[in-house]
Amino acid sequence: MSATPQAVLTERLHAALVACGLPPERGEIAPAADTRFGDYQANAAMVLAKQVKANPRELAAKIADYFETGEICEKPEIAGPGFLNFRLKPQWVAQQLRALAGDARCGAPETRHPQRVVIDFSSPNIAKPMHVGHIRSTILGDALARIARFVGHEVVTDNHLGDWGTQFGKVLYGWKHLLDRAALERDPIAEMTRLYREVNALEQTDPAVHKAARKELVKLQQGDPENRAIWQQLIDLSWAEFSDIYEKLGVRFDERLGESFYDPALAALVEKLLADGTAQISEGAACIFFPDIPALADKPCLVRKSDGGFLYATTDLATIEYRVERWDPHAVWYVTGAPQQLHFQQVFAAAKRMGITTRLDHIAFGSILGEDHKLMKTRSGDNVPLRDLIGEAVTRARAMIEEKNPELPGEEKDHIARVVGLGAVKYAELSQHRMTDYVFSWSKMLSLQGNTAPYLQNAYVRVRSIFRKLGAELGTAQQVVLTEPAELALAKKLLQFGEIVPLVLHEFRPNLLANHLFETANTFHTFYEACPVLKSEGTTQHSRLVLCEATARVLKQGLDLLGIEVPERM
Ligand code: ARG
Repeated sequence: MSATPQAVLTERLHAALVACGLPPERGEIAPAADTRFGDYQANAAMVLAKQVKANPRELAAKIADYFETGEICEKPEIAGPGFLNFRLKPQWVAQQLRALAGDARCGAPETRHPQRVVIDFSSPNIAKPMHVGHIRSTILGDALARIARFVGHEVVTDNHLGDWGTQFGKVLYGWKHLLDRAALERDPIAEMTRLYREVNALEQTDPAVHKAARKELVKLQQGDPENRAIWQQLIDLSWAEFSDIYEKLGVRFDERLGESFYDPALAALVEKLLADGTAQISEGAACIFFPDIPALADKPCLVRKSDGGFLYATTDLATIEYRVERWDPHAVWYVTGAPQQLHFQQVFAAAKRMGITTRLDHIAFGSILGEDHKLMKTRSGDNVPLRDLIGEAVTRARAMIEEKNPELPGEEKDHIARVVGLGAVKYAELSQHRMTDYVFSWSKMLSLQGNTAPYLQNAYVRVRSIFRKLGAELGTAQQVVLTEPAELALAKKLLQFGEIVPLVLHEFRPNLLANHLFETANTFHTFYEACPVLKSEGTTQHSRLVLCEATARVLKQGLDLLGIEVPERM
C-alpha cells in the first residue's frame, strides 16, 4: 500500500515550499484540530513568514498556489493568521481505503530507519510475588516491543530478573530453619515470602539471626554448593510461576539474564572505574560523582559499599556494558516504575562517563490505585499478586459472557472470558498516559460502554457478524464510492491508523494508539447507524462492506499491537 495521507501531503508541501524558494523542513502536516475546516493543516506559512519577513497570509496564499493537489485534495484553504487547511478528495480517500482493506499492515508504513533496541521489562524479583507494579511494566513493555517490531525495528526483549541480593541471605536462613515443605508445595512463592518476612522480623529482635543470615548470603556469594543449590531451587520455583503468568498474558522474552548473571563482572568493573578515574573512593565507598550535572551534584552513584558489597547500580552498569558489547543496540529501553527515576538518572550519567553512547531511556510509569484512590493493596495490606488479578479478570469476564450470551457453547465461553478478561486488564493500563496513577476498577474496565477493551472487541464482533449475516466475505472486484459524510469520516479515520502507530514510539505512549482505536470504533458506530449495510445494494453496499472490512482489520491489528486478542463472537 502507498503512503498515508499525512505522508503524501507532507511530500507535496515540501515540494511547494521549495518551489516558493523556502526551506522545506518546516513543512509539517498535522491532523486538523477541527475537521469542519479540513482534514489536515500546516502552520508552515506562519513559521516561515517570521524568517523571511513576509505577511503570513500572503505567504500561505503563495504556498497554496504552488501546492500540487492532483487527485489527492482540494486547493488548500487559508484560515486565521495563515493556516493552510487541506481537505482530501472523496475519490482519493475511497481508493486509499480499498488498498487498506486488502493490506496486511492496514496502511502502516515500515520505518526507513530500522534500529536495534533492547527492551528491559517486567523484571520481577525471585522469591517474591509479581505484583501490580510489575503488571504495568509487563503490559507496557510487551506493547512497546510489539509496536517496535511492527514498525520494523529489531527488538531484543530481556527479563532482568531480580535474582541476586541481600534478600537471599534471609530466605536461605529461613529455608534451613523454618521451611514448611507442604506449604512450599502448595504455593511456593507464598512460602518463600513467608520465610523472608519471618527472618526479617526475627532479625529485628535477635542479632544472632541477623548475623547468621548475613553468613548465608556470603556463602552464597562465595559459591557454597549447598546454598547455590537452594538458590537455584528458589529461582526455578519462582520462574515456574512467572512463566505461567507470561504464558497466560501472551508475553515472551528473548532473554532472561537476571542480576546474578552479571555478578562475576562486578569486581573487575569497579576496579576499572577506579583505575581510569571514573570513580573515586569516598568514605571507603567507590562512587561516581557528577559535579557538572546540577540534579545529581550531591547524588553520586555508589558502585561499591565500604564493606565491599556491590549495588543495584553496579549491576546495571555491568548490564549496559554487556548489552552494548553483545548487541550493539541503538537504544536500551527500561520499563520500570517512576520511583526508580533517580536510579536510572545516575546509572545513565555513569554510563555516559564510561564512554557509552547508546541511547538509554527510562520509560517510567505511575502507580495503580484501588477504588479508594490509595495504592492498590489486598485486605491484609499486601501488594495484590498478579496471578490473583488475572484469575479474577477471567472469572468476572466469564460471568459477563454468561449473562450476555448464555447460549454459546461452554468452551467458547471460556475462550471469550480469557480474551475479554485479560484484554480488559491490559487495555485499562494501555489507554492511560503511563505517568498517571490510575484507579483499578473492575466495573469500568469490563464495561461494554466507554474506552475499554470489551467495547473495542464488541465493535470488532459486530463487524464480523455483518459478514456472517451476509453469508459472504468481501469481494474485491468492484469500485468503492464514498458519498455520505459518515462514510467519509470513517474512511479518513481508518487511514490515520498508519500515522498513529509510529507516533507511539516517539514518547513511548501506547495510549495514543488505544485512543485512536476507541475513536475508530466510535466513528464506526456512527457510520453503522447512519448507513445501512445489509439493506443497501450494489456499489453502495460493496463500498460499505469495504469500510466494515477495513474497520475489522484495523481494530484487530491495533489491538494485537497492544497484546490484546479479539473473539469472533461474544
Ligand atoms: N527487579 C526490579 C524491580 O522489581 C526491576 C529491574 C528493572 N531493570 C533494571 N535493569 N534495573 O524493581
